[in-house]
Amino acid sequence: MSSAPRTILVTSALPYANGSIHLGHMLEYIQTDIWVRFQKQSGHHCVYVCADDAHGTAIMLRAEAEGVTPETLIANVKAEHQADFADFQIGFDHYSSTHSTANQYYAELIYTRVRDAGGIAVRAIEQLYDPEKGLFLADRYVKGGCPRCHTEDQYGDNCEACGATYQAAELIGPKSTLSGATPILKAATHLFFELAQHTDFLRDWTRSGRLQPEVANKLAEWIDGGLKSWDISRDAPYFGFEVPDHPGVYFYVWLDAPIGYLAAYKEWCDANGVDFDAVWNPNSEAEVYHFIGKDIVNFHCLFWPAMLHQAGFRTPTGVHVHGFVTVDGRKMSKSRGTFIKARTYLDALDPEYLRYYFATKLSSRVEDIDLSLEDFVQKVNSDLVGKLVNIASRTSGFITKHFDSTLADHDANPGLIRSIRQAAPGIQAAYDSREYARAMRDIMALADDVNAWIAEVAPWTAAKNPETLDQVQAICTTALQAFRLLTLYLQPVLPQLAKRVEAFLNGVPLTYASLDVDLFGHRIEPFKALLTRIEMDQVQQMIQPEATSQSESLASAPSSPEHDVEPLAQTCTIDDFNKIDLRVVTIVDAKAVIGADKLLELTLDLGDHTRTVFSGIKAAYDPATLIGRQTVMIANLAPRTMKFGISEGMVLAAGPGGSDIYLLSPDPGANAGQRIR
Ligand code: 2FM
Ligand code: ZN
Repeated sequence: MSSAPRTILVTSALPYANGSIHLGHMLEYIQTDIWVRFQKQSGHHCVYVCADDAHGTAIMLRAEAEGVTPETLIANVKAEHQADFADFQIGFDHYSSTHSTANQYYAELIYTRVRDAGGIAVRAIEQLYDPEKGLFLADRYVKGGCPRCHTEDQYGDNCEACGATYQAAELIGPKSTLSGATPILKAATHLFFELAQHTDFLRDWTRSGRLQPEVANKLAEWIDGGLKSWDISRDAPYFGFEVPDHPGVYFYVWLDAPIGYLAAYKEWCDANGVDFDAVWNPNSEAEVYHFIGKDIVNFHCLFWPAMLHQAGFRTPTGVHVHGFVTVDGRKMSKSRGTFIKARTYLDALDPEYLRYYFATKLSSRVEDIDLSLEDFVQKVNSDLVGKLVNIASRTSGFITKHFDSTLADHDANPGLIRSIRQAAPGIQAAYDSREYARAMRDIMALADDVNAWIAEVAPWTAAKNPETLDQVQAICTTALQAFRLLTLYLQPVLPQLAKRVEAFLNGVPLTYASLDVDLFGHRIEPFKALLTRIEMDQVQQMIQPEATSQSESLASAPSSPEHDVEPLAQTCTIDDFNKIDLRVVTIVDAKAVIGADKLLELTLDLGDHTRTVFSGIKAAYDPATLIGRQTVMIANLAPRTMKFGISEGMVLAAGPGGSDIYLLSPDPGANAGQRIR
């Protein structure tokens, strides 16, 4: 696949500046980064920009809670995000923030142009207002009884019990989650983007080949159902940009978030002497792609193209939508320890393992991607270590030892090398169309061919006989040529490994322009381990910390003196209390856990079934003395995967921890399984 260099601007969704990056986010950045690296490797002019999404009420409130200014908060979070991205090898050309001068400029420009074209309506609305906090309340900050089924403690937009959707003002007994105050209805003036004006434009735009078919179909349903105006303003106090012609009114965070793509690109253009308009004018030949998750399709495929169009800018060439990450088939969960932060992963494992694993799962469809932990270990070890790196590790030693580190001047199997090179167009097409799983399969099938051939010609046997030693040089040359080509194909996924391989092969660049370069007569460096196997232990460490700290929390509280008497918790309602299922249990078995300093494995009888619970009470109890006694457990605590197994609840104990810890016991007469009220 060869073509004239294309000019391509690529973005990933801008992460909110109020939380850490986790593996759910990383799927998108890895998917985008692989695509960008592939385009660059193919010789195209590709620029990848992103930014922190820094505005909104949540950020304002978190800064207030932490006693810092929002500017300080977003600067700290941005530094954390950038460190995570850099360590995952996400190669942004520029990383900005939506709280920037450039973004304010483009937000005002787009708003003004849309307004002047008649695209903005000004309307009086009534909204719930927290009189104590002095704040209009978004739906997520109001809770009350569902107006349909009367279930208490439901958010202001929909009921988790019966699925009803409603206005926050319809809740029974609404309360502000920020102060507990009863909100009042208060009038405000809001600005609306009149999306319905763009119905015909959007009907064409969404069907013009820019979107995955399943996304276009979903959008057609929304368009056919009638497009509603979009509320683009929020009232003070708000952390964002003030609307130029409405003092005290701010652009809603989602208005200036996608505009952040333009602003980040403008900053990159200014730093690199490139003309911004060449990409963003309505007739530009350049390509613009947004990679996003399936939850933000409406913002990117309705509001965003409509606003750009009305403001006289070009619209994206494509919006590439991916699904969510699950871990071992379930939603990522803090209580199971599977809500894995990027940094937690990085502390345990090489980022390229995850890049490869996601690549083996990604296609152009909007599908959820399961990170199955056992499959992850198995695939990385089998493919990257067992197939790819194995080619070099089993052949390069002969070159170093017998041939002064110099490769032969010909291949022992030119047909094999030819077949690997002939696979290039198919692999390139797979990358370009985001069919990474297909690319990985094709590359690993080639690695299988190479390994099968090496096993057949067995250089280790030929090396034993001086008469066949020459053949060994040609065999190993072919193997290392193949290794180089396979690494070239994997470079977008494994950029660090590719750098190590470039160094090992003494600097031949791994780009498509050098696909046909032969290494004949080339000196190589001594082979060093390029990648090591993953052990399941490392993976378990990654999901262990939160699980351990939570499941041991009651039974092994902090032991420093100032923590001996815990401050009393805030009050909770009877409904809060009723959510906890406390049960009398009989300990039917107790034993130490091999490899765990603090834990005992308890088998608890609940009357009609037993549960396994790991509890941090080893220093306080000889397990044999526990068997047969009764205690109390939280029976509806979500199960947690720990290094040693799944803990299915928690037993209750008092005391500071260590050996100074006391299990609770009911009075005689209580039966196993009885609920505590
Ligand atoms: O959903 C989110 O996390 C948003 N912060 C994404 C914004 S993407 C773009 F529009 F800026
Ligand atoms: Zn309900």
